[in-house]
Amino acid sequence: MNRKYRKTVIAGNWKMNMLPSAVKPFMEELKGYLPKTRVCDVVLCAPAIMVPALIKAGKDCKIAAGAQDVSKYEKGAYTGEISASQLADAGAKYCIVGHSERRQYHGECDMLVNAKARALLEKGVAPIICVGESLEQREMDLTMEYVAYQVKAALSGIDASQLRRCIIAYEPIWAIGTGKTATAEQAQEVCEGIRAVIRRIYGARPARAVSILYGGSMNAKNAAELLAMPDIDGGLIGGASLKPADFAAIIAASNQE
Ligand code: 13P
Repeated sequence: MNRKYRKTVIAGNWKMNMLPSAVKPFMEELKGYLPKTRVCDVVLCAPAIMVPALIKAGKDCKIAAGAQDVSKYEKGAYTGEISASQLADAGAKYCIVGHSERRQYHGECDMLVNAKARALLEKGVAPIICVGESLEQREMDLTMEYVAYQVKAALSGIDASQLRRCIIAYEPIWAIGTGKTATAEQAQEVCEGIRAVIRRIYGARPARAVSILYGGSMNAKNAAELLAMPDIDGGLIGGASLKPADFAAIIAASNQE
């Protein structure tokens, strides 16, 4: 983390877990574990249907609500889709785009991820743009080339003022839900590389101000070490964000200097 230049963000990704009726009790329990002071922004990204409940329950403890996906279309005959303006109007402040599970199970390509990020920015919702390599790509030593390509494609057509509202999440696919975390050094190396890619496109100042998160089996035990790295500005947390005590412990770990 480097709080002099950028925000620390701890974001939970509930994926397709939890029920709308479970949001309030979850938040009550979480409040009991939260550290007294906090220097990071905290977000919970839930299925869109739970955004109103999250906003209501998270208000007094300053936890922002986020969604997990958005349509690239603005409005109209797209049955089942949810637009960026609908998310914004419902009060979502953030939305994940390009999560590897959407790339893998829903065939989302880099162009679509870019279109979704731009749709969100138009409506004032901050995109959390996910990138990350597969195990095969890592073993072939293609990690940085591949992640650089993903970052460049996702940010295409996004200007420096919009970049200020973007968050990048580096999530190596092999570390997601596997209990196999990237080492702090591995994660730092790629996050530093992502910042270098952004620097080449936008220059030093904008690159210095972008928050880059790590995601992939981050938990109460390994969070402090990962967050101590200079280019890791927070976490995108799956499994551990479903357990109030664990999620709060990760938030507490981000309090370190
Ligand atoms: P896990 O923390 O469960 O590995 O999930 C990470 C993730 O995919 C967050 O978006």
